[in-house]
Amino acid sequence: MLIDGCGRELTYLRVSLTDKCNLRCRYCVPPEGVKLLEHADILSLEEVLRVISILTSMGVSRVRFTGGEPLVRKNAISLIQKVANLECAPRIGITTNGVLLDDYIDYLVYSNVRDINISLDTLDPAVYETLTGEDALSSVMRSIQSCLVNGVNLKLNVVPIKGINDENIPSLAALARDYNVAVRFIELMPVGCASCYEGLSNDDVRKKLSEVYGKESLCETEGGGPAEYVKYDGFTGNVGFISPMSHSFCDKCNRLRLTCDGKLKLCLASPECLDLKALLRAGASDEDIAEAIRDAVKNKPVRHGMRFTDDRNMIGIGG
Ligand code: 5AD
Ligand code: SF4
Repeated sequence: MLIDGCGRELTYLRVSLTDKCNLRCRYCVPPEGVKLLEHADILSLEEVLRVISILTSMGVSRVRFTGGEPLVRKNAISLIQKVANLECAPRIGITTNGVLLDDYIDYLVYSNVRDINISLDTLDPAVYETLTGEDALSSVMRSIQSCLVNGVNLKLNVVPIKGINDENIPSLAALARDYNVAVRFIELMPVGCASCYEGLSNDDVRKKLSEVYGKESLCETEGGGPAEYVKYDGFTGNVGFISPMSHSFCDKCNRLRLTCDGKLKLCLASPECLDLKALLRAGASDEDIAEAIRDAVKNKPVRHGMRFTDDRNMIGIGG
């Protein structure tokens, strides 16, 4: 078991496969774009597999692939299949913008990917294009239908932003009324270029939803994650709230992040990390790497205190 300096068990790993994305969401990518990493600086898929294999043998039991957009990484699917076949195979999830997902859903289901999160901030095609820079909403909606047909555990992530998509909150929640999906509202964190935008507090989102859908009833929390789930009368799925700004969940944090350039990040908000790429490329053994990880996690920050001190944009960290 991997335990940090304040006794938290670290069982969940987010793996960013690339800093590239086929969208340019305004709060994730600055208007001038981002400087992409050199190919040589990005971990090879063999290196990623090795890190995951070491971490799962140390007690990590859930792995989620992110990006940028994970599905734009060449051979992402073959990596996922190898992770599914590891001796200590973790439960596997992926967080995607859904644009390419329909093309890959059969392979993902076949590789035992059980948890698919799709980022979707609006159901209005014009707002979608303004927010993401692409006219791709119909592809995302097709992917959602494919997930439903395949019976995957589907969650839709929404980041409400004042003046951009706040009018779309009730219609997004209605997807949980009509389908077996969880629609989750995430408070905007002031990471990189997101600090130019003003997010909504989930207290306000809940007030708005109760005005439209009536009284909420609290659900059992799911999977130990940071979301709080509620149901409204007549809803098939749940509505979730992830509130890193208004209600910090740092005391229950069980996560580590592997950036695509091989840094093991201990906290989303802080630049503190262990340079695994340097160890991997210096010929360290699995045991050396495990030891370095055990040591590094002792310094996992206790909490973020609302201060985000990593100057990367979200696209370079992996959400
Ligand atoms: N604050 C909150 N959520 C964010 N995401 C990207 N940037 C931010 C931010 N600054 C979300 C994406 C995606 C998930 C991985 O993180 O919308 O759903
Ligand atoms: Fe791409 Fe996700 Fe960032 Fe949007 S939020 S640009 S989909 S990585």
